Amino acid sequence: MSLKQKLQTYFELGAAVSAKNLEDTGAASLLKEEFSLITAENEMKPMFILDHAQSLENLKTDGAPGCDFTMARKYLDYAKKHKLKLRAHTLVWHNQTPRWFFAKDYSDLEDAPLVDRETMLFRMEAFIRDYMTFVYKEYPGLVYAWDVCNEAVADDASVRKSLWTQTLGEDYCFKAFEFAKRYNSEDTLLFYNDYSSFVPKKRDFILDNILKPLMEHNLVDGMGMQTHLLMDSDLGLYEEALKIYGETGLILHVTELDIHTPGDDPAHQQALLEKYSELFGIYKRAVEEKTAKLEAVIFWGIRDEDSWLTEFRKEASFPLLFAGDYKRKAIYDQLEGEL
Ligand code: GLA
Repeated sequence: MSLKQKLQTYFELGAAVSAKNLEDTGAASLLKEEFSLITAENEMKPMFILDHAQSLENLKTDGAPGCDFTMARKYLDYAKKHKLKLRAHTLVWHNQTPRWFFAKDYSDLEDAPLVDRETMLFRMEAFIRDYMTFVYKEYPGLVYAWDVCNEAVADDASVRKSLWTQTLGEDYCFKAFEFAKRYNSEDTLLFYNDYSSFVPKKRDFILDNILKPLMEHNLVDGMGMQTHLLMDSDLGLYEEALKIYGETGLILHVTELDIHTPGDDPAHQQALLEKYSELFGIYKRAVEEKTAKLEAVIFWGIRDEDSWLTEFRKEASFPLLFAGDYKRKAIYDQLEGEL
């Protein structure tokens, strides 16, 4: 039995898909068998959508940022072809967004002066409007959720300082949701997404300063807990966070699940199995006891070979449930048996 079948009455399973995966036939059949939804690992982020030449050209007219949807289209077409739901990631983020987007006259000089709040509000609105309009017009009904704003909260539980705060101001995340709501289609969900969102200090800041104001204005549908875990991550705190976010009544998605595991030997993989088993136990319990509207769990990558962790952690990582030629790892069957 697949984990997807086993867990289908609880929540959906998904995976982040890389550009390389799109080319591999093994990936397509695995995705069909094991998952019902996908996220583009990178190619739907602002840096792959914003078009510098077109933005410069637009300065002659209204000055809206230019967009090129070629990369996004690959994922939209893929999801459509393989009948997978698509989680669009992400509209507003401090990372993987070009500096020129924030600069006067879209200058790409390193030290070009930045625009003021009014200009940045205009650019943000135009970007969100054009991106959403493209998706809804050309692929109606395909994208079922957007990460409207990613990682607006820093580790010290404050609004993260970035080019967004420098230009638009500390309420940039709220503004992103206002615009997203304005151009959204009725049946598509709007999410806030963040990492380490189970750590109490950060969790409470997200609740009080991001989610509650958005909820008061009916601008948000869901909370995305990224869930990049380490072997010693505290799952007690994680379960508590699931409950606390659950109390808001928002939909919860686990958006970027992986557990860094620096070895593919039996001992390391046994530890990984135990951690996943505990975690999925928490997820099932949350649904059974109705403590959270947990609707989707998405792995960050399909195979160990695809994982960003090897580069990020500067040591080989084997954090997922598939490997090699898009095959189940030994721990997959064990996990399936335990759940
Ligand atoms: C964050 C982002 C993702 C991705 C990962 C690292 O969690 O939300 O889009 O970039 O980092 O791969």
